[in-house]
Amino acid sequence: MTNRIPHIFSAVLILLVACSRPEQAPQVISVIPQPAFIQQSEGVFSIDRKTSIFVEAGDSSVIRSVAFLNDRLLKAAGYSLPVVADDPLRHAGEKGIFVLDAGLKAEAYHLVVEEGRVVLEHGGGAGAFYGVQTLLQLLPVEIFSEKRVRGIHWELPCCDIEDSPRFAYRGMHLDCCLHFFSIDFLKKYIDVMALHKVNRFHWHLTEDQGWRLEIKKYPLLTEKGQWRKETVIGSLSSGFYDGTPYGGYYSQEEVRDLVKYAAERYVTIIPEIELPGHALAAIACYPELSCGLEDHYETATKWGIFKQVYCPKEETFKFLEDVFDEVFELFPSELVHVGGDECPKASWKKCPHCQALIKKLGLKDEFELQSWFIQRMEKYINSKGHQIIGWDEILQGGLAPNAKVMSWLGEEGGIKAAQQHHEVVMAPYPKYYLDYWQADPDSEPLAMGGPTTLRTMYEYNPVPEVLSAEESKYIIGVEGCVWTEYMPTPARVEYMAWPRMCAIAESGWTKAGKDWGAFTRRLETHLGRLDRMDVGYCKAFYDPFIELHKDTQYSKIATISVDAPDAEIHYTLDGSTPTVQSPIYTGPFVVNRQQRVSAVAIRNGKTIGNIRYKDF
Ligand code: ACM
Ligand code: ZN
Repeated sequence: MTNRIPHIFSAVLILLVACSRPEQAPQVISVIPQPAFIQQSEGVFSIDRKTSIFVEAGDSSVIRSVAFLNDRLLKAAGYSLPVVADDPLRHAGEKGIFVLDAGLKAEAYHLVVEEGRVVLEHGGGAGAFYGVQTLLQLLPVEIFSEKRVRGIHWELPCCDIEDSPRFAYRGMHLDCCLHFFSIDFLKKYIDVMALHKVNRFHWHLTEDQGWRLEIKKYPLLTEKGQWRKETVIGSLSSGFYDGTPYGGYYSQEEVRDLVKYAAERYVTIIPEIELPGHALAAIACYPELSCGLEDHYETATKWGIFKQVYCPKEETFKFLEDVFDEVFELFPSELVHVGGDECPKASWKKCPHCQALIKKLGLKDEFELQSWFIQRMEKYINSKGHQIIGWDEILQGGLAPNAKVMSWLGEEGGIKAAQQHHEVVMAPYPKYYLDYWQADPDSEPLAMGGPTTLRTMYEYNPVPEVLSAEESKYIIGVEGCVWTEYMPTPARVEYMAWPRMCAIAESGWTKAGKDWGAFTRRLETHLGRLDRMDVGYCKAFYDPFIELHKDTQYSKIATISVDAPDAEIHYTLDGSTPTVQSPIYTGPFVVNRQQRVSAVAIRNGKTIGNIRYKDF
């Protein structure tokens, strides 16, 4: 790899005078997502109060990106660096961090750390921002502390990093309908996304269980539609309810604030307004939007799919167009999500208007009616300068001409759409749904399915192999989906999302092939960053995962794994506590009906996680 530091710098020899001071372990570079190219060399660049940041004058987006480095330094080190907005070349001989526009692609950056200087080349604010995110991850993990940490040498290992993303769309979703989350939490969510170079926040705002977005023209949507009278306890079919009204919504002022906050971190917010299904909260407010088959409509109190959907009549389209008009005022994103998933056809089958419409339009069935519904909305949305994306089901009855597909039902929809030359974001539920268990369901909180482990997420290749090279170009990215049925609190969201989302972020950003072992090593350091950011991630990384596989009536095959690198698994079969003296797991073994497998991960003679057990 060539050294692309502007040659004028190369002419300047900078001697670093090393001061004598206590040793700090040399930094092993552990960046997530892994950059395209890294070469580490001897030595470090030390940041101190006198280190300047040189940026080109007038480059306000770059100056804003650089401010994120100073924000962290101010909190963790207790000082920020002087920013010299000038012609950086005039300061070539000085010690400092030089941030230079080298005309790179929008999100690309090139970071060279030498003992006397750091050069961050970019092509604008986004590349500078991502370069800063990497630079922060080169510093000791304490840089992510909210409070001042003393006794740290703020050193960057000397290296040359060239980086740019694999996909344009690197998304993270959050359902704020099944449960509601404050703007403060969403800001923290976006902060953590940005650290991972995730650049799309898919905000699920309307559902059967609650409408969360203020729409001035239809005030009932939030006055009434935000509320459900109670919430199911446990799984959707438990039959138990909490008897407590539940609500919450985002004012337009709050939305504007969040959109700006996200944009400063190079995150585009993609709002989702569900149609034609998952519309019960809206219908409960405005029953005239339904097929009118029922006397009474109420916001749903349990999870699932509901037959009360929008009826494709003029007043429904007027309503939806009005809603989107306000959405476009709030969200600058070109792309808007129209849902399209899980729309039962029962009401349309019974509705005289729907049946007459099918006949009048010469449609084959209700699936084609759904396609017509979405195409009509697409035409309107396109006329306002926006594009639609929808879940797999928008393929049913024919894809709208310009639609992108978010493929969640597996890979089939994504493959079909790519073969039809429609852009696709891969979010298949068996791989990228973060409401699925991440470890043994026996020891985890209630979840939707799975388990879908960190490793499963990491190893998934989002470009299906059946696609040709040409078709593969239509896979524009990945998204991790956080449906919040069983996540009533921010803490539970973080627990389910992280660290698995680190794996998805890496699949979205990193072009290089996957190396699970290397990822776990980087992740272990990275968890220290999440700790400092107070992200309540799941620590199953350190726990043995015991699985008992079917064999005979009297026997099962036990396998045990652990994600943490360089750990041994010790186990017992007699119910006793496993210790460093217990046998080491080396591979699958047989257990009988009387045996309990208990296991623990041990590194350097010390237990690193929880003891886990499993009975026959
Ligand atoms: C979905 O999970 N219903 C898109
Ligand atoms: Zn109808």
